[in-house]
Amino acid sequence: MISRRAAFRGLVGMFGAAPWLDSQDWDNDPVLGPINVFDFRDLAKKKLDPLAWDYLDGGSEDEQALRDSREAFKNLIIRPRMLVDTHKIDLKTEVLGAKLDYPILLDPAGGKNCFFKGGELEVAKGAAAAKALQITNGGIDELVESGKGPQWWQLTTGGQLQNRQTMRAFVKRLEAQGCQGICFTVDIMHVSHRERDMHNKLERSWCESGIPPRDANGQVPKAKTPWRAGIYPSRPSPLPTWQTVEELRSLTKLPIVLKGIMIAEDAERAVKHGASGIIVSSHGARQMDHVGATIEALPECVKAVNGKIPVLVDGGFRRGTDVLKALALGAKAVCIARPYLYGLACFGQRGVSRVLELMQTELALNMGLAGVPNIAAIDRSLVRWRHEHKG
Ligand SMILES: Cc1cc2nc3c(=O)[nH]c(=O)nc-3n(C[C@H](O)[C@H](O)[C@H](O)COP(=O)(O)O)c2cc1C
Repeated sequence: MISRRAAFRGLVGMFGAAPWLDSQDWDNDPVLGPINVFDFRDLAKKKLDPLAWDYLDGGSEDEQALRDSREAFKNLIIRPRMLVDTHKIDLKTEVLGAKLDYPILLDPAGGKNCFFKGGELEVAKGAAAAKALQITNGGIDELVESGKGPQWWQLTTGGQLQNRQTMRAFVKRLEAQGCQGICFTVDIMHVSHRERDMHNKLERSWCESGIPPRDANGQVPKAKTPWRAGIYPSRPSPLPTWQTVEELRSLTKLPIVLKGIMIAEDAERAVKHGASGIIVSSHGARQMDHVGATIEALPECVKAVNGKIPVLVDGGFRRGTDVLKALALGAKAVCIARPYLYGLACFGQRGVSRVLELMQTELALNMGLAGVPNIAAIDRSLVRWRHEHKG
C-alpha cells in the first residue's frame, strides 16, 4: 500500500510544490493535523479552559455582529477568470512602507496568556517565522531587541494618551525600538458587555495573568472583581478625540493607523486629521453590537478615502477566499486575530505560523483558480454581491 508520504511526494512532483514541504513529518507532527482555520478552532476549544474559550471566541451583547461578520461573506460571489497564466502566484504587497510577503497581518489581542503561557512573545515569534507583520500589545521587547520580524504597536486609550508629554515619551520609545507604525484603536472607549464573560464571572485581570487552575471540584477561584452588568459607563478622564489624532500626528513621522472605523464619514475624517491608514474593524464584534459585518462596511470606507490612504479590514476572516473578497473590494490588506489565537492555543508559536501559512496558501490557491496571478490583478470586477447582476 502506498504511504501518505509517498503519495504526497507524487503530488509534489506533479504540481511542483515547495521543496520544504517534503521535509515535514506529515504523519506524526500534530501541528500539521488541522487543515484549515476551522479545524484549529475546534481543537482550540477542546484544549482551552471554557472561560478562556468564551473570552477568545465571544462577542458583545447579542453577538449579532459576530454572526454577521461570517454570514456576510456568503453574499459576496467571486467571478473567476479563465485561461490566465497563473503558474506563478505572487502575494507580495506593500502597506505604508512595510514590505509584506502576503497581505495578512496579525491584529492586536489582549489576554494571550489565557491561551498560552508567554502568549505575546510566542505570537511575535510565530509571526516572525511566518514573515508576517504583527500589531502587538507590547511586552515583546526581547523580540524587538533580537531584530526578528517587523513590528507594529498598538496604542489604546491608556496612559500614553493622557497628555502631550506622555504621548511624546511613548512615541519616542517606539521610534527608538524600530517600530514601524502606530495602531490607534478608536473603538474601545467603554467596557462593552461580553455576556459570556459576565455569566462566567470572569475576573478581568485573568486576561493578563491567565485563567487560574481549577481546584479538585473543577472550580476556578472566585473572582474579586468579576465583569458585571448594570454599571453606568463613565471614565475618569476625557477620552481621545480627532484632536488627539492630530496631536499624535504632530509628534511623529511614523504611520498612524486608526483601527475601528466603520463609516464613510469617519474614514473621511481620518484622512482630514492626518491618519496614514485605517482598519475597518468592529473589534471582532466585541465592542458595539449590531454594526453589521466589516466586509459590508468596507466599500463605503474605501470610497470615502478615495485612494488617499490605505484601507485595511478585519473581522471574521477565516478563508483565503475571504481575504480575496476584501482585496477585490479595495482593502490593501486584511488583519486577523482569532485565527492565530486558535493556533496559539493549540501549539504556541508553531500553531501561529501554521495558521498564517494555511491562510496564505489558501489565498494563493484561490488567486490561481480565479485567474489573478498577483495582487495588482485583483480589482472590483472580481466579485459581485449576490443581489448584483452583471450584464
Ligand atoms: C481575545 C481577543 C482580544 C482582543 N484584544 C484587543 C485589544 O487589546 N486591542 C484591540 O485593538 N483589539 C483587540 N481585539 C480585536 C482584534 O484586534 C480584531 O479587531 C478582531 O478580533 C478581528 O476579528 P477576528 O478575531 O474575527 O479576526 C481582540 C480580539 C480578541 C479575539
